[in-house]
Amino acid sequence: MHPNLFPTTVLCILIVLIFSINVPTTLCLDDFHYTNCSQNFDCSGIETVNYPFWGVNRPDYCGLPGFEVTCQDDVPMITMMQGEYRVINIASATSTLQVAREDYWGNICPQYFYNTTLNFSLFNYASGLMNLTIFYKCNLYQEIPNVPSALSCPINGTNINAYYAVTGSTAVQGLRVMCNSSVIVPIFESVAQALVAGSTNIFDALDEGFELQWRPSNDQCNTCMVSGGQCGYNRTSSQFTCFCKDQPSNAAVCSSKPSGM
Ligand SMILES: *[C@@H]1O[C@H](CO)[C@@H](O)[C@H](O)[C@H]1NC(C)=O
Ligand SMILES: *[C@@H]1O[C@H](CO)[C@@H](O)[C@H](O)[C@H]1NC(C)=O
Ligand SMILES: *[C@@H]1O[C@H](CO)[C@@H](O)[C@H](O)[C@H]1NC(C)=O
Ligand SMILES: *[C@@H]1O[C@H](CO)[C@@H](O)[C@H](O)[C@H]1NC(C)=O
Ligand SMILES: *[C@@H]1O[C@H](CO)[C@@H](O)[C@H](O)[C@H]1NC(C)=O
Ligand SMILES: *[C@@H]1O[C@H](CO)[C@@H](O)[C@H](O)[C@H]1NC(C)=O
Ligand SMILES: *[C@@H]1O[C@H](CO)[C@@H](O)[C@H](O)[C@H]1NC(C)=O
Repeated sequence: MHPNLFPTTVLCILIVLIFSINVPTTLCLDDFHYTNCSQNFDCSGIETVNYPFWGVNRPDYCGLPGFEVTCQDDVPMITMMQGEYRVINIASATSTLQVAREDYWGNICPQYFYNTTLNFSLFNYASGLMNLTIFYKCNLYQEIPNVPSALSCPINGTNINAYYAVTGSTAVQGLRVMCNSSVIVPIFESVAQALVAGSTNIFDALDEGFELQWRPSNDQCNTCMVSGGQCGYNRTSSQFTCFCKDQPSNAAVCSSKPSGM
């Protein structure tokens, strides 16, 4: 074996050999980036939160800017364009996550109205979605066909009316003219169909959330993981980094064999 290959590992082995009885093995700590990014995300509401996501007990160098997941009362949350979303599921294999708007969780009467917007350099909508438009403060001077009856929203101490309709329906055009405010929320196409058919309700439909695809590629991360490393990001150099057991690797892969062998 080439003598310069694993200085840290070799040093550790020597230390352990020399002081094999009295020295605690903590002297041979793994690199802290590796250790910290190996931790499971500490939030009971979700099973795994991995690169490019980070947050709570996983420091910012374990993921990319814009992908912080927080944990509020055991609910994983992500902030996108100032809006708060519950993270229902993260699927690394397909680079998709399922989120639901926090302000519409079990609720159709939020205090502030804002449209769902994405930073398209980070996320894109997955396929199989439709937009639901929720209308508020409507002046109903004519009957609109196929629109469920008004929901009453106590907001800021007054009751305002609310209606909803799925994108593309004729009801949307009518309501757009008559209502003073509207909010666009994506829902699954299958849920939209169930909503129109009356086999689900607006609250359950919103709580299902919608699916997003994240744009940054997971290829480097997959290579890093396979080589035994933990994925990370160096904010100083703005580069993907593979945190290997002994040290961060700029090569984005941990080599466990001498190169060329
Ligand atoms: C990382 O891990 C070390 C110990 O392994 C710990 O002292 C440190 O606070 C952790 N967090 C960060 C943000 O580095
Ligand atoms: C409720 O009040 C807040 C604070 O005054 C205001 O910003 C918000 O727009 C109001 N919401 C609605 C739906 O009128
Ligand atoms: C949401 O988008 C629709 C369509 O672009 C717009 O008419 C509406 O005013 C927007 N709502 C808010 C709260 O910005
Ligand atoms: C969108 O994400 C990119 C990449 O992280 C960031 O540079 C940019 O500031 C973000 N845009 C907005 C409007 O937040
Ligand atoms: C929903 O509306 C947003 C704009 O508010 C748009 O970017 C998105 O593509 C729409 N989604 C569908 C499925 O029409
Ligand atoms: C909608 O806005 C108009 C003009 O500001 C106002 O006269 C009307 O009362 C509003 N309608 C509702 C239902 O709030
Ligand atoms: C991050 O990049 C800077 C500049 O290239 C480098 O000096 C530093 O060692 C890197 N940090 C890690 C943890 O890889």
